[in-house]
Amino acid sequence: TECGYLETMRVIVTGGAGYIGSHTCVRLLEEGHDVAVLDNFENSQPESLQRVQDIAGRDLSIHRGDVRDTGSFADFFDVWRPEAVIHFAGLKSVGESVAEPERYYTTNVQGTVNVAQAAVKAGASSFVFSSSATVYSPEAQMPVDETAELRPGNPYGWSKRMAEQVLTDIQAAQPQLSMALLRYFNPVGAHPSGRLGEDPRGVPANLMPYMARVADGTYPALKVFGDDYPTPDGTGVRDYVHVVDLADAHLAALDAVGASSGVLTWNVGRGTGISVLEMVEAFERVTGREIPIERVDRRAGDSATSFAEVSEISRRSPWRAIRGVDEMVRDLWQWQSMNPQGYATGITNEAFKS
Ligand code: NAD
Ligand code: WQD
Repeated sequence: TECGYLETMRVIVTGGAGYIGSHTCVRLLEEGHDVAVLDNFENSQPESLQRVQDIAGRDLSIHRGDVRDTGSFADFFDVWRPEAVIHFAGLKSVGESVAEPERYYTTNVQGTVNVAQAAVKAGASSFVFSSSATVYSPEAQMPVDETAELRPGNPYGWSKRMAEQVLTDIQAAQPQLSMALLRYFNPVGAHPSGRLGEDPRGVPANLMPYMARVADGTYPALKVFGDDYPTPDGTGVRDYVHVVDLADAHLAALDAVGASSGVLTWNVGRGTGISVLEMVEAFERVTGREIPIERVDRRAGDSATSFAEVSEISRRSPWRAIRGVDEMVRDLWQWQSMNPQGYATGITNEAFKS
């Protein structure tokens, strides 16, 4: 800070081994915070946390537990006594949520109840939650601001909307605990070291990890889902935000939450949309690789355009998205090239358990 005094906190990060959580842990450690991660590693690998510590040059604590099962982490919160909790742990596949809604509500809603309850009991004063632009209506006018109607189009979005309501009500009952609900747009890219990134299981459902696997030859072509949308080139427009910028938004939220009371709700995006074809063009230009495309039908449930009104986060914090599309592509491609198998290194979850 300006006066040279660093206010460090004890922070519990749920889902800290995951894509966004791992990048946020690096930034927290770099800023001097004491970090403890709660994760069940169902969609991540302990290896990511090893790398987080290598990059930051500091250690964090790791606790294997499940947010659905309070008994698996209550003691950890009691002993650790966090001042702040950042709650990333959750499930995030829209398609899966349609097929298995119970799992999504149990993990994302009941899990959030459990983590918030533990935060209250431990005496935490700040809580930051991973919400999603999916809470808005697929028909919302863009750019969409935080006061827009919440009308999710799928169970995943509903689980995030419900979790937001749970947290808002808990905050009203526990005014000592201030909250930030961060509605992420489309997080992409990787750590500039090339050592942290997104490691989806199986065939990637999202544009950028799929494109990276077309570039490296894993898949023959990128399927462009629809080219008849009412957008300039007919393909879907999204607000992509570099994962390191997104990580920094959590630090900005901790600062803002610490200085206020109540619930802050912030869109986190760049405030501009780019199309699938524009992203393909950027990827080819930055990496020098060719991305063959195949035009196919629209994907069910997709909207034409999504981008954020970001004046709220700008007004309430110094945070700005400073990394552009070229850096998103460059860092993603470096991660993909350096880790063609993601974190798979022979270190299995089973090995970690013992
Ligand atoms: P991720 O899957 O990489 O990370 C989630 C982490 O939570 C993983 O480490 C996973 O093992 C852990 N986890 C899952 N279920 C758990 C449980 N029951 N108990 C303990 N840990 C559990 O996903 P991410 O992309 O880093 O997303 C983090 C959060 O941000 C999620 O809540 C997600 O819904 C939200 N979000 C993500 C995006 C996106 O596009 N990536 C967009 C908006 C919101
Ligand atoms: C982006 C654009 C596709 C893949 C999803 C979730 C959302 C949030 C982020 C968590 C769209 C097009 C994609 C492909 C394509 N997650 N596309 N070919 O759908 O905006 O958001 O992830 O909260 O909730 O819905 O992201 O990366 O899947 O798609 O043409 O192989 O790329 O149609 O226009 P999306 P995405």
